Amino acid sequence: MKNIVLVGFMGSGKTTVGKLIAEKTGMPLLDMDALIEERAGKAITEIFADEGEAHFRQLEREMVQELSQLEGQIISTGGGIVLNPDNIADFERTGLVVCLLADAQTVLERVKHDTSRPLLAGDKEKQILEILAVRKPLYESIAHRIDTSGRPSPEPTAMEIIELYHAIKP
Ligand code: S3P
Repeated sequence: MKNIVLVGFMGSGKTTVGKLIAEKTGMPLLDMDALIEERAGKAITEIFADEGEAHFRQLEREMVQELSQLEGQIISTGGGIVLNPDNIADFERTGLVVCLLADAQTVLERVKHDTSRPLLAGDKEKQILEILAVRKPLYESIAHRIDTSGRPSPEPTAMEIIELYHAIKP
């Protein structure tokens, strides 16, 4: 049975939608960032501060290689996995990869009180606009995309993904 892999920018709703899909289907949910933190024994902010972003990307790459071997999981990824095309290729082999899109205003609204994302330290709006501009083509190159901008509830997004999953299974 294929995995369901949720990709998308920070604040696009991957974790929230992932939890809802898990509740509705009974499939287990794996959160990549949480697993990386557990293994490293420290928070993402600390990994970035102590070892730098390149090291984090390496840990992320190893986690993708490991998780893409599994079956029947819901995998909620970190927003930067699209930076390495091998990550998407690996997940595509064993899963339905769905990209959640959200415009900058929606993202800002969702992350404005958050302090756990090192890439959004400082002027959040500026950082979001800059990083989104670079990554937009990468997110848009993923075949299955759902725009969650302005959607007040994650419910319809979760349902859409479950229906898609049933349509393409195994
Ligand atoms: C990142 C997104 C974060 C986390 C790290 C880097 C990114 O995950 O992996 O802070 O580069 O977009 P979320 O997308 O869950 O916030």
